Amino acid sequence: MTHEADRRDLAAHSLDVLLRWQTDGGAFIAGPTFSQYGFSWFRDGSFIAEALDLCGRLEEAGRFHAWASRVILDGAAGMERAIVAAGEGRVPDGCDYLHCRYTVDGEPGPDDWPTFQLDGPGIWLWSLDHHVRCGGTMTVDEAAAARLVGTYLAALRDTPAADAWEEAPDRVHTSTRGAMLAGLRAIAALGLDEPATADARDALERQLIGRRVWAKWDGSDAVDASLLWLIAPYGTVDVHAPVAAATVARIEAELEDDDGGVHRYRDDTYYGGGAWPLLSVALARVRLLRDAPGDRELARRALAWIEAQADAHGDLPEQTPTLSLHPERIEEWTAAWGPSARPLLWSHATYLILRRELGLWLP
Ligand code: BGC
Repeated sequence: MTHEADRRDLAAHSLDVLLRWQTDGGAFIAGPTFSQYGFSWFRDGSFIAEALDLCGRLEEAGRFHAWASRVILDGAAGMERAIVAAGEGRVPDGCDYLHCRYTVDGEPGPDDWPTFQLDGPGIWLWSLDHHVRCGGTMTVDEAAAARLVGTYLAALRDTPAADAWEEAPDRVHTSTRGAMLAGLRAIAALGLDEPATADARDALERQLIGRRVWAKWDGSDAVDASLLWLIAPYGTVDVHAPVAAATVARIEAELEDDDGGVHRYRDDTYYGGGAWPLLSVALARVRLLRDAPGDRELARRALAWIEAQADAHGDLPEQTPTLSLHPERIEEWTAAWGPSARPLLWSHATYLILRRELGLWLP
């Protein structure tokens, strides 16, 4: 794709994909044609809402926040029990904690894959605050849901949970801590702070800031591209802080391909561990903040690489297999679940976000 007109078509198509797969109730279907992704995730939806805010689609972003807050308030009694369990040092019951994916009607999705994640609720708080900063409103129900999520994260912040990739549920993941910190800062910005949320925020700051470099979890020797979000968009540390600089340097060295594709982590075998457009966006956003010589050109290269991943319909994939880390593992996933997700709404959303960051036309 070389012509500006084609790129504008892809941008317009990206917005269409997001709007087309938003249900009347406000949920976004993460991967409408992929066998496993006919659900709505807090994480995906929060980044999609960010993109819609930036496109001036406050009404549609607001409908997602309304959906999320309904799911949260419907689960309030269970979340209160989960808070008590965490206070007693117990892992909350599966019927009580907030699940990571829900049907569009707000029912928990299937549990044949880890369901307990704490980054999604944190990202949702961050996204709700983003929505308000962009001129959106926060309803009374959304404020009540946000307050409850803040208290929930404060209580559960040291509880092991699966990460953004729905893996390693027995760990406390650094990127999850970053999402919780972003969420608890959002709670303060939204005027919903309580003593418990303020204390948890301070504790998370102590755990994250001042480190030499971030790893997947304390004691792990692996780096993960989801750590980029801690710098942009969450802004939990300045891009020039030593921990940010060292982590980005590792990601650039270990997870970026020569063409600008970015992998999740070196041992990733899901569909062979290909490169994810939404992670090329994450690295590009960090580079635009860092603004070192060549960073802007690399961000533009990332945009062009993503555009090259679109199929003839303009649909963007979750990942692309051209430079997979473990190509011998692609077949087993394809046999089980079919080709990997395309379109993935979150890929389209982050494409729009990067266009915005580069000052390019948005639909
Ligand atoms: C990813 C999650 C994502 C989900 C839906 C999973 O494979 O690991 O981060 O929320 O797909 O897009």
